[in-house]
Amino acid sequence: MNPRDARDPVISPRPMQHERAPEPGRDRADPCTMIILGALGDLSRRKLLPAIYQLMHEHLVDERFTVLGVARDGAQTDDTFRAAMAKALKESDEVEQFDDALWQDLCPRLHFVSADLTKAEDYAAIGKELEHLEAKCPPEQRNRLFYLAVPPSVFEPIVCNLSKSGLAPRTKTQDERPWTRIVVEKPFGRSFETAQRLNNMLLGMFAEHQTYRIDHYLGKETVQNVLVLRFANSIFEPIWNRQWIQHVQITAAETVGMEGRGKYYEEAGVVRDMFQNHLLQLLTLVAMEPPAQMSANSVRDEKVKVLRSIRWLTEETIPHNAVRAQYTAGTVGGKSVAGYRQEPDVSPESIRPTFAALRLAVDNWRWNGVPFYLRSGKRLAKRVSEIAVQFRSPPHLMFGHETRAAMRPNVLVMRVQPNEGVSLSFQVKVPGAAVALTSNIEIAPVNMEFDYTQAFGEVTAPAYETLLLDVMIGEATLFTRSDEVEAAWRVIDPLIQYWESHPPKRMPTYAAGSWGPREGDELIEEDGVEWREPEV
Ligand code: NDP
Ligand code: BG6
Repeated sequence: MNPRDARDPVISPRPMQHERAPEPGRDRADPCTMIILGALGDLSRRKLLPAIYQLMHEHLVDERFTVLGVARDGAQTDDTFRAAMAKALKESDEVEQFDDALWQDLCPRLHFVSADLTKAEDYAAIGKELEHLEAKCPPEQRNRLFYLAVPPSVFEPIVCNLSKSGLAPRTKTQDERPWTRIVVEKPFGRSFETAQRLNNMLLGMFAEHQTYRIDHYLGKETVQNVLVLRFANSIFEPIWNRQWIQHVQITAAETVGMEGRGKYYEEAGVVRDMFQNHLLQLLTLVAMEPPAQMSANSVRDEKVKVLRSIRWLTEETIPHNAVRAQYTAGTVGGKSVAGYRQEPDVSPESIRPTFAALRLAVDNWRWNGVPFYLRSGKRLAKRVSEIAVQFRSPPHLMFGHETRAAMRPNVLVMRVQPNEGVSLSFQVKVPGAAVALTSNIEIAPVNMEFDYTQAFGEVTAPAYETLLLDVMIGEATLFTRSDEVEAAWRVIDPLIQYWESHPPKRMPTYAAGSWGPREGDELIEEDGVEWREPEV
């Protein structure tokens, strides 16, 4: 336990230093205490605190907003916790400039209590601290947001202890006040069975409306924009089907390696880490039918239907539709980097894939016969995530042979990161001598570009900022529902099981800094298609 001699005064309602109405179109969060379970970890320092800071900067949190950090380290106090968080903010890429006035506002809102969250007896200290922090709040405003920023191995005991301790009561309806909400980080389970067990446990203790399963890709601006692009424009939807679309490529390429997460990655590998959640979520948004309304359940109903329409991978089909590989030493961004098996906490004989490429079929009316190619890997050439929709070639080309050979299909690219935006490529005639259209005129593909920053003059909000605010408001559309997570595991489980029970004789490799293994290219070249080399 963390002995605390002197208690800081609790935040009482007072205008924030930068008190101002939120931007039009953005709601201010309900008052609440955010209890970060695992508050000294990487996620908390790199993502959650910067998101809170930014929400305060934008006047989106309530003036009673308070944070209670919890971790085991008994040597921590409010002061050391605050110092660690100030350091994290100063080092964060997501905080443009550390604003001292804003920090003076945030700092006294941060509190810390040490507890081993797997031990039921340690919850009394958290309860005592919460009572103290909430003492001046009217009872109906004593909202609690529990954020599980802890390793997935302790999710289950923590969910159980939270409920049994009475700190996180089940609420009957979404409108009940005060509310209690639980945010569960990914990976949500490590298989269909474990995800189902965690869901059953969560839903045995809390209601679905209290449970927020986070997938931070859903908070990214372009990802949210996929539905707007598709359903708010009349030009795309009529051609968004098998008749006009030849295939879809979804890429999430990273330049980073293990960054101290070797132990976690040895458990997870790229399929659990990126495909089960982020990549399948992108696929569902591209492939789903228009929801009845833009409500959380209508959107999630349609996403679940897509996941259930994905053709199951089997022992017979996996070898022809999936490729795995590991990075070896190479050069990324001009720096020499070690191979995966040389990373700290990674076995020198590890067979955990750091790259995978997958061909999936969505067996429904809209997508029959349209392949979805997915790829993701660590230590690739560029950091880029994008969805590329490639349209079919025109049915008849009357141009000369050389012109036809130079033609490129139309591609609509939704750039998730970096430089969020959308581009549409099409063919134009290269200006030059007038020639008859039937002969070999010179043509070239050009791009029509939409760039968020250029169009709106500001950088888009980081995903965690959007998602945290949604939890504080009670908006669940960008979170995954229990059946959705399970349906995603059903797609991925056969692949993981097959790969784990069929270790490769020789693990395919790729040099760090490349675009992945040759086998990944061959997977789609069989279909006469190439991976795009994304422009960033
Ligand atoms: P870390 O290992 O860096 O941090 C885990 C935190 O949990 C530490 O503060 C640790 O502190 C605390 N903790 C662990 N066990 C206990 C316990 N029994 N009781 C109390 N506190 C405990 O992990 P990350 O921050 O990287 O990840 C946290 C979660 O977020 C994971 O589920 C991860 O998969 C997910 N995530 C992380 C991302 C990232 O970029 N880091 C991205 C997306 C998801 P102490 O040891 O002092 O108790
Ligand atoms: C996390 C994975 O969910 O997403 C990490 O655990 C990965 O391994 C990260 O690096 C990628 O997120 P982003 O937002 O940087 O694309």
